[in-house]
Amino acid sequence: MTKGNAPTKADFVVVANRLPVDLERLEDGTERWKHSPGGLVTALEPFLRARQGAWVGWPGVPDVDVEPFTDEDMRLYPVRLSSSEFRQYYEGFSNATLWPLYHDVVVPPVFDRSWWEAYRRVNRRFAEAAAEVSSEGATVWIQDYQLQLVPAMLRELRPDLRIGFFLHIPFPPVELFMQLPWRTEIVRGLLGADLVGFHRPGGAQNFMWLARRLAGFEPSRAQVGVRSRPGVVRVGDRVVRVGAFPISIASGELDQLARTKEVQQRAKAIRAELGNPRKIMLGVDRLDYTKGIDVRLDAMYELLAEGHATVEDVAMIQVATPSRERVEHYKQMREDIERKVGSINGEFGRVGHPAVHYLHTSVDRKDLVAFYCAADVMIVTPVRDGMNLVCKEYVACRNDLGGSLVLSEFAGAAAELTSALLVNPHDLDGVKDAMLAALNIDHAEGRRRMRALRRQVLTHDVDRWARSFLEALGASPTG
Ligand code: ADP
Ligand code: G6P
Repeated sequence: MTKGNAPTKADFVVVANRLPVDLERLEDGTERWKHSPGGLVTALEPFLRARQGAWVGWPGVPDVDVEPFTDEDMRLYPVRLSSSEFRQYYEGFSNATLWPLYHDVVVPPVFDRSWWEAYRRVNRRFAEAAAEVSSEGATVWIQDYQLQLVPAMLRELRPDLRIGFFLHIPFPPVELFMQLPWRTEIVRGLLGADLVGFHRPGGAQNFMWLARRLAGFEPSRAQVGVRSRPGVVRVGDRVVRVGAFPISIASGELDQLARTKEVQQRAKAIRAELGNPRKIMLGVDRLDYTKGIDVRLDAMYELLAEGHATVEDVAMIQVATPSRERVEHYKQMREDIERKVGSINGEFGRVGHPAVHYLHTSVDRKDLVAFYCAADVMIVTPVRDGMNLVCKEYVACRNDLGGSLVLSEFAGAAAELTSALLVNPHDLDGVKDAMLAALNIDHAEGRRRMRALRRQVLTHDVDRWARSFLEALGASPTG
């Protein structure tokens, strides 16, 4: 990473809780920057690099002051969080209140007034930082659930700016959103934007209903389309557009990377290291309770117990990036997953053949692509996911038309990837059947499905997503 001083003002600014790189403090006291986890960074980073924009965000560790700097073509503006803000705003309100509430209350959200105060305070700091770095008339694109108050706060500070907001996670059904004690403030915060974007039209419709119910602003009545026909909410003399923009990945780049000799050789080596099983099944996720890792482990357990698979025949790999490790539900879930892995391996594993190869780590890009290329079956079973980029990455890597995708209906991606083997993650028999079908899929049928999936993923990449959002915002996507 080449570093340099960041110039002071920018015409195009992304504001997200995290910078695309995280500061890491090593045991010997030295520091280094590493790639930040999660789909938001995966999606936005390539786009912003190409556009030479600025990114305002937290450097990933509390209590550090970092000066603005340039990382190749991106200008990065760090925002400081104290330890108590990290606990209350990040671990608390963002990840123990909003995250579970917006993911269908998979676990009970915690409503804590001091967390809300910290959320407001930190959102104000992000708004001030964005106001500071934006040039006159700049376009500012605010990202995700951690920063829902920033649009209105920023508009107050800088009415000259064009402000977009995109939510990377699902927007919940109105009955669930109504549980939030600070529901009106959140809706008013979002309405500070000129364009509010969601993955799916349903999220946009829910938000418009709430704009009327909670803030008294009249929304348009026509159904919101995908990338087109945004809804409209009149807020005084302003018009706020509300649309659906399904996010994607840099599919062309990934396709190219997957074709390289280095990746192909690595994929072969992975298969050989596993003892050349007939089939390799793969899961790749942040270690999050929404991802349904337990569901696929339960299904695998039953496939082995019922004799539909043996450990010599099928190798299952689960790569799980550590995530939000101090938040209570994450701790519990990790214990639960690791207990399940232990008991499946104890019961069915043989020397040299564990039933589940479980890696609690994040892997680098080339290794990840090699895993995708090696996997005959990709298992993506979230109980709720805004989009899910992992399944799109898998498809982008399969130019050989090999491999089968088992995908939850509850991932936003299911609306686009209709040629996957779609499953209801709450229906264990259904998941098992789909895994078994994927393991034994007819060659021609598998290729037919993969061809259709690739057509979708390669023609709908992240660049198209960003362009459609920015065009709807009225900002030139190339400017
Ligand atoms: P989320 O944003 O909720 O984490 P997504 O599926 O949308 O879920 O995006 C996850 C991103 O993180 C993908 O780009 C994926 O490749 C990456 N990722 C997930 N797990 C790992 C891992 N163990 N190692 C490396 N990258 C990972
Ligand atoms: C999801 C969220 C992002 C978040 C990422 C990683 O993709 O939508 O906003 O950055 O997960 O989570 P973390 O809490 O580590 O930032």
